[in-house]
Amino acid sequence: MTLLDWKIDMAEIKNVTKAIIPVAGLGTRMLPASKAIPKELLPILDKPIIQYVVEEAINAGISQIIFITNDSKEAIEKHFEKNFFLESSLKKTKKKKLLESVKGIIPENIKITSIKQKKPLGLGNAIYRASDFISNEPFAVLLPDEFLLNNKPLSDLKNMINNFNLSKEGQVLVEKISSKFSKNYGVVDLLKSRKHNQKFKKITNFKEKPKSLKSKEAYRIIGRYVLPSETMSFLKKARPSKDGEIQLTDSLLSMINSEVNLNATLSSSKVYDCGSFKGLIGANIALASKDPKMKRYMKEILN
Ligand code: UTP
Repeated sequence: MTLLDWKIDMAEIKNVTKAIIPVAGLGTRMLPASKAIPKELLPILDKPIIQYVVEEAINAGISQIIFITNDSKEAIEKHFEKNFFLESSLKKTKKKKLLESVKGIIPENIKITSIKQKKPLGLGNAIYRASDFISNEPFAVLLPDEFLLNNKPLSDLKNMINNFNLSKEGQVLVEKISSKFSKNYGVVDLLKSRKHNQKFKKITNFKEKPKSLKSKEAYRIIGRYVLPSETMSFLKKARPSKDGEIQLTDSLLSMINSEVNLNATLSSSKVYDCGSFKGLIGANIALASKDPKMKRYMKEILN
């Protein structure tokens, strides 16, 4: 390859501007609360979980959000649509702050699209539903179950996008856990390296909920990915795993086995699993304890 070919090749890799947010799962862990209300609309303080995740994507530079949804999740789309009646009523009653809170849910230049997943055939199938909207470009995936609290100037997602731009290779967000918890998560093996302060590390294996591991520590996958466009062709070929679902991690494993490099970016966030009651309550307590209007009340009730 000549230097000119290389420059053309690099120039052809586009910016990460689209994010897929799958919300078509059954949410069984949140029943009965999620029977009629999508679990993604349950609140952390005054906003639904999904709004934080959409804001996280927008703050990282995403300009198009693609929800993978189903018939019982239409309220999620409604949350991001304009509500003329509510706005004019708040205007009339001069409730300025409330008006601002519903008017400015997302900036006007952000495009939101929804695609239906007819049956919950797994996360891999859900992401593949967006393939017609991804044309030879990298994309982000955010799983709204995972709520990331971060006080660093750069969010994990922004860091991942920067790492993608540096390497032109996919990035998966991970955190270190004790290996006794690995049976609950997707985990990755990383290429050992003596270099310090590496921004990301090459992934050498993906394991879905391994029962036992030799090492004391493991790197578990957090629901944030920045993936190259060819991910879609691997998802297209994917077959259901033992549980009948098409798993994203199976396709990611096929990618690294076919020499499409993927890397792990280490998270600097505190992660709350808001697909479980424990995580949702934890996220509420964590945010309320920092909120100027709520912190005194929180001290009172927690004592
Ligand atoms: P989970 O399996 O963690 O969530 O999927 P779930 O199925 O909604 O919840 P439980 O386990 O029954 O409580 C991770 C993400 O993938 C989406 C989910 O909506 C969630 O955001 N998903 C999963 C889909 O969109 N479609 C699927 O077929 C499966």
